[in-house]
Amino acid sequence: MTALRPVRLTRRAGLSVGASLVGLSTPGTAYAVGESASMNRQDHAPETSLRDLGDARGIRIGAAVSSRPLVAEPAYREILAREFSSVTCENVMKPSFLQPSQGRFDFQAADAIVAFATAHGMTIRGHTLVWHNQNPAWLERVAASGENASAALRDHITGVLTHYRNDGPVPVLAWDVVNEAITDTGALRDTLWARALGPGYLADVFRWANETDPDARLFYNDYGAEGMGRKADAVHALLRGLVQDGVPVHGVGLQMHVGIGARQSPSRPDLAANIARLRALGLEVHVTEMDVKLQTGTGTDDERLAEQAQVYADILGTCIEAGVTSFTFWGFTDTHSWIPGFTGKPDGALPFDTAYAPKPAYHALTHVLAGG
Ligand code: G3I
Repeated sequence: MTALRPVRLTRRAGLSVGASLVGLSTPGTAYAVGESASMNRQDHAPETSLRDLGDARGIRIGAAVSSRPLVAEPAYREILAREFSSVTCENVMKPSFLQPSQGRFDFQAADAIVAFATAHGMTIRGHTLVWHNQNPAWLERVAASGENASAALRDHITGVLTHYRNDGPVPVLAWDVVNEAITDTGALRDTLWARALGPGYLADVFRWANETDPDARLFYNDYGAEGMGRKADAVHALLRGLVQDGVPVHGVGLQMHVGIGARQSPSRPDLAANIARLRALGLEVHVTEMDVKLQTGTGTDDERLAEQAQVYADILGTCIEAGVTSFTFWGFTDTHSWIPGFTGKPDGALPFDTAYAPKPAYHALTHVLAGG
């Protein structure tokens, strides 16, 4: 880690002490809840950023990016470039987008995001090569038929990683090669790929990726395996087996879709212990998709925002101490979050509100990055 740069805690930086304060984490640290949705974005543009503070701590700070607002909303572009040093395509690097019909790759939407990232000195987290969702119909048919399933999946991986080879112009920090292959009870998930290819597909796809781009950093990515527990044990056991077999897997992505309220996020000791045992396998650990749901908690709006800030701070602080090298949010503004569409309920799970103003969570995150 490089030395910390001082952070100016001015009104513009947004960490005001006084008025309405809740969510004390350590003595002297509190997350203001008075400044929230009504804040004017320009008036309160922070004088530092998650990105600058992350650079000083040696940790990438990333966001999942959606194509439409990147084109349509200047505020979206402005905050993305200012606050983040890494970008994950929220959808457009998934197989249904990259290979809509067999043999016809379409990198246009993904490349538009990549172009924005490279123009702003950001890196890319590739997401995702092998998953049970968002596959094109033709690929699902091939997998279901069992014939040529292996060749089709291999061709997809080869095609994508050839386009995004690390010796090319695009700096790809990591690839989520396999996404969500383990169930919540710790079993191998019954997916189109497990059915077509058997459990050995997990090792195969990492090998195919490595053959295409030996410089690519290859990750296994999953949700609900952040703290200790059945699923985390199973993910650890899977990775230990792959490492022991010499399979080229280099890291683990902990998605971190969590919430406020009891048992909605991992405890600090559990998270630290899990990261430590994964790192002990020689793996790098990234947080890949963090958001913190409000709908899982109770209390006033201000109390819930303060609790959310605390959850973000606890997890980021634990991850920095435990040696996590990249920390990505699944979006950054509540205007564009997958959660309401998924749960059917409004939420506010991200560090910027729908007016693009930084929330208490944002201030808590900058405070942690600044060494608070
Ligand atoms: O592309 C179609 C578009 O043509 C159509 O008009 C529109 C109408 O609903 O749907 C569009 O597809 C949507 C797609 O996102 C692209 O916007 C799907 O309905 C929607 O279900 C899909 O949701 C994505 C979800 O993955 C799919 O499972 C979310 O945006 C995305 O945030 C989410 O991301 C996943 C990670 O990849 C893996 N980990 C969990 C995470 C959250 O679920």
